[in-house]
Amino acid sequence: MRFPSLRLACLRVIGISFCIMGVLGSQGIGVAATATERTPRPLEVHAHRGGAGLAPENTLAAFRKGMELGADALEMDLHVTRDGEVVVIHDETLERTTNGMGSVADLTLEELKRWDAGGKFSPAFRGERLPTLREVIALVKAAGNTRIRLDLELKYAPDRPGQPEDFEQRVLEILRETGFVLRVNVISFHHPSLATMRALEPRIRTGLLAGGRQAPQDPVALVRRYHADYYSPSVRHVTPEVVAALHRAGIPIAPWTVNEETEMRRLIDLGIGTFAGDGIVTDYPDRLLTLLKASR
Ligand code: G3P
Ligand code: CA
Repeated sequence: MRFPSLRLACLRVIGISFCIMGVLGSQGIGVAATATERTPRPLEVHAHRGGAGLAPENTLAAFRKGMELGADALEMDLHVTRDGEVVVIHDETLERTTNGMGSVADLTLEELKRWDAGGKFSPAFRGERLPTLREVIALVKAAGNTRIRLDLELKYAPDRPGQPEDFEQRVLEILRETGFVLRVNVISFHHPSLATMRALEPRIRTGLLAGGRQAPQDPVALVRRYHADYYSPSVRHVTPEVVAALHRAGIPIAPWTVNEETEMRRLIDLGIGTFAGDGIVTDYPDRLLTLLKASR
């Protein structure tokens, strides 16, 4: 059997609230969410950078693809331009993903828009432009998708020059103007940004990112310290003990970046997907969705 029976049952059951309550109840854990708050699947599929294995990362083409596939969330990385626009790009510079050069923080939006953000992935995507956060939200609205969430990674590093001090406030203003406050998960390696966001908007959902060589010693304490809603570590840091400790504490987990089916299965076998809000962040949402479909 590929999955332990309880996990498989959890993934198969359509009325997942009973499954989750059963798992949690058996461990004496309080149920974190009501049935109406749940996503259609217990394991959330997060399309990393929109699905960077399938389309040029952090472009509208990738986000369109992620939605078409039926992902639960579109992950994306945010920076701020010289003229204060919130744009979607992973690196602080243009070289790796576009045919342009320079730092995002040194360029205006108009200057950034001159460069191609699709051709490096494949000539079939030539013409893609680096999108703004507003454009991604407009795309989701135009698609009529009222379900998908946006994982907004604030690429804020306090020591990097040219970054606005009010990064979080700028992002929040866009979310308020577009009515998307409740449609996002704000995530960051810069954990104080999560606490700032929560203070500015208590209803916002946040996820604490952890990477680097050394895994945090006490993920539960870290998540609590910054008032985050879930823990999102590098997959290298995921052990049975970490999953169990988080779930015992009522905290969901969503590791990144998980691209191989064997690794996806390992995480599911560890119990990821038995707790409301658990997820897997992948460049290949198609692979994970196929795996979950096959297990139903
Ligand atoms: O979802 C978290 C993940 O995106 C963090 O790593 O470098 O891909 O932004 P990175
Ligand atoms: Ca990211």
